[in-house]
Amino acid sequence: MSEARATTHFGDTTVALEDKQGLVNEVFDAVSPRYDLMNDLMSLGVHRLWKDAMVSRLAPPRSGGRPFRVLDLAGGTGDIAERIHNHSHGFAKVTVADISPEMLAEGAKRAKSWRFGAGTEFITANAEDLPFDTDTFDAVTIAFGIRNVPRIEKALSEAFRVLTSGGRLLVLEFSKPDVPVVDTFYEQFCDRIIPPLGAMVMGDDAPYRYLVESIRRFPGPAAFCQLINEAGFSRVTHTALSANIAALHSGWKI
Ligand SMILES: C[S@@+](CC[C@H](N)C(=O)[O-])C[C@H]1O[C@@H](n2cnc3c(N)ncnc32)[C@H](O)[C@@H]1O
Repeated sequence: MSEARATTHFGDTTVALEDKQGLVNEVFDAVSPRYDLMNDLMSLGVHRLWKDAMVSRLAPPRSGGRPFRVLDLAGGTGDIAERIHNHSHGFAKVTVADISPEMLAEGAKRAKSWRFGAGTEFITANAEDLPFDTDTFDAVTIAFGIRNVPRIEKALSEAFRVLTSGGRLLVLEFSKPDVPVVDTFYEQFCDRIIPPLGAMVMGDDAPYRYLVESIRRFPGPAAFCQLINEAGFSRVTHTALSANIAALHSGWKI
């Protein structure tokens, strides 16, 4: 008798667990040249405020005995890395890790014009199996990335492993709006504006249908905090952003 294969979701489609990453990679490889433009259009620029909020919460130091080491996981085109460099006036050392070489290539291109962070490392890596030693980073950040990882628990365990004791994990992710009228407007916006916008700008709405579906399938902040907790993190909290359209999750390796 053959064993049942483990399944998961790619957006609303049920797929074999081992097939999801390939499908996710197709999405980000395809959108990488216009990823930043689409982020601004789809969020009306608000993703910038959420990313600013994440880096303010991290509050990377501007001086100290040695550089503050940050791993920006699923870091894509380097939005979070750039902010961390600016906030720390170049004192932080950020490693951007992402499974998509195309997204990283866009980031490396952008990094040439950054005020700080000339030596930023862009490393192709799977969040489920990180090529870094245990106890390497003072902080791990993940913005809008964890939703795409097939085995979220593995990625959280890996983040825990590579953090130093006393290090912090911050995860920024879409959530579910909980304010009347805002929630209705948001649902309509997701269904009626985002996929057609993707078709107009990218010539294909499929990546943006995946985006909307994957956001809806992601667990709410309380359930996601539970996963962070189970990966070993302490003092796990979440903060709602913009009527809970997004949420910032925090946990410490103590
Ligand atoms: C929505 S983008 C977020 C990029 C960036 N953090 C930002 O906020 O703009 C999601 C990123 O997750 C990356 N990703 C998906 N699965 C991954 C995995 N298993 N390991 C590392 N990165 C992954 C994708 O390649 C993509 O760059």
